[in-house]
Amino acid sequence: LFGFKTNKVSGYFEPIQASKEDQLLLPKGYRYDVVAAFDDVINAAGEKFGQGSDYNAYFPIDGSNTRGLLVNNHEYTNIFALGPVKDGKKSKEQTDKDLYYQGMSVIEVFQDDKGTWKMDTTSKHARRINGFTKFEFTGPAKGSAILKNASTAQGTFANCSGGVTLWNTVLSCEENFSELATEAGLPLTHYGWVVEIDPFDGSFLKKHTALGRFNHENTAMGLTADGRVVVYMGDDKKDACVYKFVTKGKYVPASGRQNSELLADGTLYVANLKSGKWVAVTYEALSKVIGDAKFKAPAGVKGTREELQRMFQSQADVVTNVHEAALILGGTPTDRPEDVEISPFDNTVFISHTNNDNHGNIHGHITRIFEKGNDLGATEFDFEIFIAGGRQSGFSSPDNLAFDSNGNLWVVTDISTSSMHKGVHTSFMNNGLFVVPTHGAAKAQAMQFASAPTDAELTGPFFTPDERTLFLSVQHPGENTTDLAKPTSLWPHRQGDTKARCGVVAISGFKLG
Ligand code: FEO
Ligand code: CA
Ligand code: CA
Ligand code: CA
Repeated sequence: LFGFKTNKVSGYFEPIQASKEDQLLLPKGYRYDVVAAFDDVINAAGEKFGQGSDYNAYFPIDGSNTRGLLVNNHEYTNIFALGPVKDGKKSKEQTDKDLYYQGMSVIEVFQDDKGTWKMDTTSKHARRINGFTKFEFTGPAKGSAILKNASTAQGTFANCSGGVTLWNTVLSCEENFSELATEAGLPLTHYGWVVEIDPFDGSFLKKHTALGRFNHENTAMGLTADGRVVVYMGDDKKDACVYKFVTKGKYVPASGRQNSELLADGTLYVANLKSGKWVAVTYEALSKVIGDAKFKAPAGVKGTREELQRMFQSQADVVTNVHEAALILGGTPTDRPEDVEISPFDNTVFISHTNNDNHGNIHGHITRIFEKGNDLGATEFDFEIFIAGGRQSGFSSPDNLAFDSNGNLWVVTDISTSSMHKGVHTSFMNNGLFVVPTHGAAKAQAMQFASAPTDAELTGPFFTPDERTLFLSVQHPGENTTDLAKPTSLWPHRQGDTKARCGVVAISGFKLG
C-alpha cells in the first residue's frame, strides 16, 4: 500500500494498474459521484452544463465542506455537442452551439446524508458564462488600437485551466481560442487573455490585459516577500515560455475583491532558463532591442526589424503579442509549459512541461523553480527537472497539477488520443491521475490513483478545504468518435444514454488522519 498524508487526512491506497477500460477507475476504498455532465440542466432558467470540462474550483458556502459553488471551465466541443461537421466547415447553428457550450459553469453542489455528491439545480448562483457573455477589459491594452479601441469583449471560450485568487475569485485561461474566434467572426485580439469571475457575483467579469495574451494554460497566485501579488503562467505551445506577473501594488487582505485592481498594473516577466533570470517584458526594453540596426529576429519570431517595429509601438502591443516580444527579449522556448503550482510546503514552483516532439521530448517532465531567497518576487532563480515522464516514472505527458496541504503533487496526464496506445505510448494505456510526494522517503515517486475512460484525459483536480473530497473533470471521453452511431466511449454509462459525456466527478473515500 502506498501512503500519502495531507495535513487533514491520511490516505493509503494500492496504486492501480494502467488500463484500457472505458471506466474511471480508482483504488479500492475510493468512490466517485458524477456531479454534472455535458448538457445537464444546471439551474431553473434551464441553462445547460458546457462541454470539454477542465479546471475546477470549489468555494464553500458558509464555510461548508459539503455544500459549495463549483466553477468548471469548458475548453472545447466535439461531435457529441455539434454533430458531424461537414467538409470541416461548421454551420452558423454549429458555431453558435460552440460559443454556448464553451466558457464556464458555476454550479451548486452538495453531499447528501448518504454521502453522495449531487448538483442543486435550485441554486440562485448557478449560471453559465460563455461565448456570449460580456467582459470588461482592464490594463494597458484596454481601449487601445490593437483591441480595435474596445473596452469590452464578447464572451470567453477555450477556457483551459485556471486558478483561485487570494480574494476568492477565479482566474480562467483562454488557451486555443483562434479557431472559434475566426469562425464566429470575432476579433482575435479579444481572446487569449486571463479572465476573472466572482462565483458569488454574476456582474463581475474581467479580462486582464496586463497578464498578457498567449495560449494561456493556467495561473498560480502567491505573494512576494514584500506583499505584492505574483501570478505564474504557462503558454501551452511547443517552444513557448514560462511567465510571471508581479503587481505594482501590495495585497491588502481587508480589501477583499478590490485587490483585483492590482491585476491591472504590474510587470510581466519571462523566464530565461540559461541565465536564471526573470526578464521584464516591457515596451521600453523591447524598443531598445529592435531599435538597434543590427537586430535580427530570433528563431520563432517572424518579420523584419521594420515589421517588428511597426508591430510593437506601445505596451498595449507588447501585452497583446507577448510570445514574440518575450522571445526577442531572451525568454527561453520550452516544451509546452502547461500547469504551474506553488508548493504550499516550501514555496518552490512546479511547472508541467507536457511534451514537445520537435525536440524528442516525447514524455515531458516537471520542472521545479527555486526563486532566489525563496522570494516569489525575485528576479533570479535556479531550477531542476523534478521528475521526467517515461517508463521509469510510469507516466507520460504531465498536464494539470494540484498540491495537497502536505506537498504531495497530484498530476494528471495528457497523452493525445492520436498517440495513445501506439508506439512508445503503448504501456501507459489510458490517461491517468498520479500522486507524487515532493519530499520524504517517497519523493518523486509516482503512484497511479485513477485511470480515465476511453479517449479521455483527466483535468482540473481540486480538493475541498478539508481534503476529504477531490473534484476531477473527465474531459473528452469518446473523442475519436466519427460516427455518432458508433461512439468509442459511453462514459459515464448512464442508463439508455447513446453519447459520451464529459463531466465533473467528486471522489471520496479519504480517511481522517
Ligand atoms: Fe488545454 Fe494545454 O491544455
Ligand atoms: Ca491542459
Ligand atoms: Ca493546477
Ligand atoms: Ca490538455
